[in-house]
Amino acid sequence: MRKIESIKSIREYLSVARKADSLIGFVPTMGAIHAGHRSLMRAARADCAEVVVSIFVNPTQFGPSEDFAQYPRPIKADLAACAEEKVDAVFCPSVEEMYACGSATTVQVSGLTEGLCGGHRPGHFDGVTTVVAKLFNIVQPDIAYFGQKDAQQATVIRRMVHDLLWPLKIVVCPTVREPDGLAMSSRNAYLTPHERRQALCLHQSLSEAQAAIEAGHRDTGKLIEHMRERIVSAGPCAIDYIAIVDPDDLTDLRMVEKRCLIALAVRIGSTRLIDNILVDANSSAG
Ligand code: PAF
Repeated sequence: MRKIESIKSIREYLSVARKADSLIGFVPTMGAIHAGHRSLMRAARADCAEVVVSIFVNPTQFGPSEDFAQYPRPIKADLAACAEEKVDAVFCPSVEEMYACGSATTVQVSGLTEGLCGGHRPGHFDGVTTVVAKLFNIVQPDIAYFGQKDAQQATVIRRMVHDLLWPLKIVVCPTVREPDGLAMSSRNAYLTPHERRQALCLHQSLSEAQAAIEAGHRDTGKLIEHMRERIVSAGPCAIDYIAIVDPDDLTDLRMVEKRCLIALAVRIGSTRLIDNILVDANSSAG
């Protein structure tokens, strides 16, 4: 496995795969590799002859009071995990390499970025789309892999790729969970043992909402209220949002009629956790 730090070198490295017409699969990450990232690498390995992972903690997607400085950077363990997943190359540029020219350009997807996490993390998605656009231009993958756990991010990136006519397929892989249901996240490492137990209420509230929809409940206001009660009763927390939206355009739904995305963001202690579940009301008993 090659570890590559400069844009020039990764371009040179990939020009060989491109000449050989090899399918290039790309998994962008901020490192702190966990089983969720590994599932994306495995999907890429199954589909593509050349698999590239990027590890870059992108400063422009963190707000001024967020955890950029504190974000875990276990680069040795990350490289070992990538090697175990038979990744061909890991691109790990510095901030100077990615933002050398004091960029004046921001890639912004409107509409889809305004609600859910976008409503609570101003500028976050502009940072994500701008860095992912740069990474796509550097790697020029045929397929890029993202996790369903970051459902809004995946929807926004899909839209960016569609609007900017990128000849690239986006694959969204299912959320990977701990055996007790907690969604894998690099930020889980911030939780104390007590907060870690409390955090189980996120997935529990989503599962209960899914069961309620499957039992025929359709009123999203009532479903959200039950979820809120469930989460608040688990312990002190701050709920950024609980929402039931159309999975394609992320607009709020009043009634669940077909497919919906139930999404939430909750702060437990100083850790902000997100999770979501896709539910199809038509395939349920209700
Ligand atoms: O999901 C992430 O880890 C990041 O938002 C991404 C897509 C790597 C962009 O920095």
